[in-house]
Amino acid sequence: MGDDGFAAVDAYLDGLFGGDDPALAAALEHADAAGLPAINVSPNHGRLLQVLVLACGARRVLELGTLGGYSAIWMARALPPDGRLLSLERDPRFADVARGSIAGAGLADRVEIRVGRALDTLSDLERDDAGPFDMVFIDADKEPYAEYLQAVLRVSAPGTLIVADNVVRGGAVAAASDDPAVTGVQRFNAALAAESRVAGAVIQMVGAKGHDGMALAVVR
Ligand SMILES: C[S@@+](CC[C@H](N)C(=O)[O-])C[C@H]1O[C@@H](n2cnc3c(N)ncnc32)[C@H](O)[C@@H]1O
Repeated sequence: MGDDGFAAVDAYLDGLFGGDDPALAAALEHADAAGLPAINVSPNHGRLLQVLVLACGARRVLELGTLGGYSAIWMARALPPDGRLLSLERDPRFADVARGSIAGAGLADRVEIRVGRALDTLSDLERDDAGPFDMVFIDADKEPYAEYLQAVLRVSAPGTLIVADNVVRGGAVAAASDDPAVTGVQRFNAALAAESRVAGAVIQMVGAKGHDGMALAVVR
């Protein structure tokens, strides 16, 4: 089965599970109209993130990489009324678009977007003793993924679920590469595999966005 087949199965699954609702569809439309790149998670993977928030009973979620707020909406909807999602975004314009879509989804009271380089904001969170988070979704730039893992561990606690997207990259991770995004996730995967503070696994995934994968790890 090729990319068309994977997309067809995603469409079938979206049909079964309800697909995008108006707020999620509006978030994608606003992002597109504002010229944001279409590098959000797929609806099926948004749904998976929602299941993971529920599975770990998360009340506090941290996201690295907001874009237009699409994955944030999926995850924030799974939080209890007093739950909070903090999403870190480098681009202030993207953050503004996301804030509008998150407000449109009725989640403004549950989601905060902090603008800045994620490594800087993570240092601030550590300094301010802002952790621990129950779940962390790493989905920002790929080069510093290994550094993100270390920084995220400093705002985690036993039981924290760490999810990192795009760690297979169409299979490119399995061979030598000079693409900084590939070498970034290769460093991350190796660091995760060697990290004794977590139990981790990387799963390959296919779908409307092609072949990629997610890392899942629980802090011991
Ligand atoms: C793949 S997109 C996030 C997609 C989003 N999680 C979703 O599925 O809807 C990556 C985002 O990370 C942001 N980003 C890139 N480098 C960053 C950095 N160093 N710190 C914070 N955000 C960064 C980009 O501007 C972009 O919005």
